Amino acid sequence: MPRKLLVTSALPYANGPTHLGHITETVQTDIWVRFQRMRGHDCLYVCADDTHGTPVMLQARSEGITPEELIERIGAERRRVFAEFHIGFDNYYTTHSPENRHYTESVFKALDEAGHIARRIVRQAYDEQAQMFLPDRYVKGTCPRCGAPDQYGDSCEVCGATYSPAELKDAVSVISGTAPVERESEHLFFRLGDFEGMLREWTRSGTLQTEVANKLDEWFGAGLRDWDVSRDAPYFGFEIPGHPGKYFYVWLDAPIGYMASFAHLCARTGLDFDAYWRPGGGTELYHFIGKDILYFHALFWPATLHGAGYRTPDGVFVHGFLTINGQKMSKSRGTFITALRYLELLPAEYFRYFLAAKLGDGVDDIDMNLEEFTQRINAEIVGKLVNIASRCAGFITRGHGGRLAGRLPDPALYQEFVDAGERIAGLYDGREYSAAVREIMAFADRANLYIDQHKPWLLARDPDRTAEVQEICTQGLNLFRVLMTWLRPVLPRMAERADDFLGARSERWDAISTPLLGSPIEPYAALASRLDLARVNELVAGPAPTGTKEQAAAGAQAPTLSIEDFAKIDLRIARVAAAEQVEGADKLLKLTLDTGEGTRTVFAGIRQAYAPEALVDRHVVLVSNLAPRKMRFGVSEGMVLAAGPGGADLFLVSPDAGATAGMKVK
Ligand code: 2FM
Ligand code: ZN
Repeated sequence: MPRKLLVTSALPYANGPTHLGHITETVQTDIWVRFQRMRGHDCLYVCADDTHGTPVMLQARSEGITPEELIERIGAERRRVFAEFHIGFDNYYTTHSPENRHYTESVFKALDEAGHIARRIVRQAYDEQAQMFLPDRYVKGTCPRCGAPDQYGDSCEVCGATYSPAELKDAVSVISGTAPVERESEHLFFRLGDFEGMLREWTRSGTLQTEVANKLDEWFGAGLRDWDVSRDAPYFGFEIPGHPGKYFYVWLDAPIGYMASFAHLCARTGLDFDAYWRPGGGTELYHFIGKDILYFHALFWPATLHGAGYRTPDGVFVHGFLTINGQKMSKSRGTFITALRYLELLPAEYFRYFLAAKLGDGVDDIDMNLEEFTQRINAEIVGKLVNIASRCAGFITRGHGGRLAGRLPDPALYQEFVDAGERIAGLYDGREYSAAVREIMAFADRANLYIDQHKPWLLARDPDRTAEVQEICTQGLNLFRVLMTWLRPVLPRMAERADDFLGARSERWDAISTPLLGSPIEPYAALASRLDLARVNELVAGPAPTGTKEQAAAGAQAPTLSIEDFAKIDLRIARVAAAEQVEGADKLLKLTLDTGEGTRTVFAGIRQAYAPEALVDRHVVLVSNLAPRKMRFGVSEGMVLAAGPGGADLFLVSPDAGATAGMKVK
């Protein structure tokens, strides 16, 4: 029975260019959607730009344009880029739409009428010069706990403390540079706690990956707090009816953007909106998201839907972040790769393939090591997959009127391939793409082995054996067709070109149940070509942009130090023996350092800049006589040196090769 599925990817913010992180998510989703369609299901895929909020408003202001002009420009770029990466949306819309206003207002009204909205006065940082309330990220100052300068208003990247902007010392507004004051304002809150029972049940109903469900249990344990869903003017968004000067917080209207994009599709196609969004419509709803926005999708969103009388999602599929050469994407490092830059240099489908080869069903980060990328494309797509077609095609097109033979010489082998189809389908369905690709490539090896063993190039020298050559190559091309069909969700364009070459469309998963026999094929034109590592490395070769004014301020000179004072600092080379993430701390990595005399534990605020596995065995500079500091997660016995403004833009200081653990730095 064909199922009716509605699938979404997270809506990208409209305040910056599309980057490979966005493409990672849309490709993961698109592969799943294409697979479901190949299986005969009715699978719809919608998305949109997430256009509201303070960053969009300020970005437009800094460019001297209106937010509408900004989101229009970003939306146009995004549509083009997604199309070039073959993302098969049924609709790509915007949250700044009449449909979204309608659904946001009506969802809010329903929640309010049912008593799920509370009103409360909040005190918040206010910039008197810019005349606006400041989100936490727009206030910076000195950490009240460890004294680290230049920390955001919500948490410290150095010691991991969390606090409110009012607790920061020497706080300044990032917008005007003036000291913020505190002001009161009435805000509207969604009472999330009203939905705890329903959310607990939903969490356990098989909708979430185990690791994600466990995370939710932690959040239930910590207690569900009311969610502030209003913001004061100036704000780019929808004004709340009946509350002049108050706007819906962007995170309320963003997921409702899924509904709005779908409603826009319904208006165009006559689809039944309610069948997909009201309970009991016999349809399924799935969201693909990154792990950073889980709270919104697994708590606020289902509760909002339920509270307003809509259905809840059947699945929220969470993935990790894309890292480049083991590092977080970062502009100053050159590892922030925009989608357009990638497309200037390399074929879109190579990225799709590489992602598929790396993606599992879990939330681990996905590393794009550029050497591995190059090597896999050359070895697997060029060396194995299309090699089968290029080895066989010429013998058919040159000697047999361009027709395939009327029989397969080894039908059992063909059947063995076909029989694996259901297993591979199960892997795609469970989002185990890397396992699917591994299986498919193992079959590609089998197909190549078959050709190696039967050596059509030798037989072709004997004029009496041309029929045999035709049959062997017919076998090879049919095996190639099976592989290409299985890879169609990943390589849709290449699969179409393979269809043209083979003279048959293989758009359904079961198209391969019977082989192509006796039919004409077209002359083979290269389906893929080798990658050159130097070109691939150009992805990260862009010039590092110069720092912002803010970063320059952070680097201002400290007071002069006497040589005696400096001599008190004992700097040593240490080797990273182990590095791991710290549960509950977004900024910290726990480093176990080999100091030449033993090991030390240091909590370093570098999680956004480094993947732990990339650090092992690296030499760093340790401030070894720093007094141990007790942190929430344990005792930190020193500090490692790093340069840069912080966050993802942080660079560990390392000695030249040859330095060993324990050496004194002087
Ligand atoms: O994190 C983000 O990039 C958000 N713009 C995602 C929104 S997803 C959905 F809720 F709209
Ligand atoms: Zn701190």
